[in-house]
Amino acid sequence: MKYIKGVHRHGSEIFLSVLKDSKSLETMNITKSATTIKGISSIISEYNGIIWYNKYSKNKIRYNFEKKTKDYYRIKIEFNKGFFNIRPNTPYIDLKKYLELTINHYIEIWNEYKNKEYAPIHGDLSLVGNVMFNNNEEAMFVDWEQFDNSSVMPTGIDPIMTIIENVWYETIIHKKITDDTLQHINKLIQNLNKANLLSPLLQKKPAQNAVKFIKANIEIWKGQHYKLPSLKIPNKFIEEIDYIVTNPH
Ligand SMILES: Nc1ncnc2c1ncn2[C@@H]1O[C@H](COP(=O)(O)OP(=O)(O)OP(=O)(O)O)[C@@H](O)[C@H]1O
Ligand SMILES: [Mg+2]
Repeated sequence: MKYIKGVHRHGSEIFLSVLKDSKSLETMNITKSATTIKGISSIISEYNGIIWYNKYSKNKIRYNFEKKTKDYYRIKIEFNKGFFNIRPNTPYIDLKKYLELTINHYIEIWNEYKNKEYAPIHGDLSLVGNVMFNNNEEAMFVDWEQFDNSSVMPTGIDPIMTIIENVWYETIIHKKITDDTLQHINKLIQNLNKANLLSPLLQKKPAQNAVKFIKANIEIWKGQHYKLPSLKIPNKFIEEIDYIVTNPH
């Protein structure tokens, strides 16, 4: 059974179709296709991102990239069995383990970029949609539409964005960041730093500087930056994240 999940989803100019097994209803693969300059550019980023990721990841993403005509590109992505997404609106306390697995997987994949100021960027390491997990406590990064390896972004910016995203969700529910969350965020950022995967450009005021770099390189998001939690979160929470990193207690 094949169905179209979305057309021009979030203004991305990509068509997404999903193939499910008609008996088990299990998703087998997805196909992303595009016919516009912006859409094709996202498909090419996805293709380059998957190639880059597969070089370092134990769990490979199987894909079929097709340039049908000069203005019709598509990519089919096979689903990796056993991997699941975290449910949206999961409270921060239940996310802790998954955030730790995400940071650890980042450390594993970006290993060659230790002590480097700049590194390739996934660009949309959203815990809910684009990080997947299995029962063996493995993480996998999918959805490479915003991948950029021109190395203009500081090493470690992806996990800082993931952290900001989940803080933002917490502030929507509780109107504040709890002390427990702040302590946990600090631990995550310190772990990244201990692994030498936090650029000197993000060591002071990581959240504020991450936002600064996103704004200075907005073209990476191909018009979709408005979706980014890092740009939506009120500045006072950005300051709170940065404060705890400089003044842990
Ligand atoms: N290799 C994979 N193995 C298992 N599941 C995958 C894989 N790739 C993608 N998925 C699943 O398909 C979903 C959609 O894929 P992807 O994130 O690449 O597209 P998207 O453009 O973000 O679509 P959406 O708007 O639906 O999130 C993912 O959130 C994930 O649940
Ligand atoms: Mg996605």
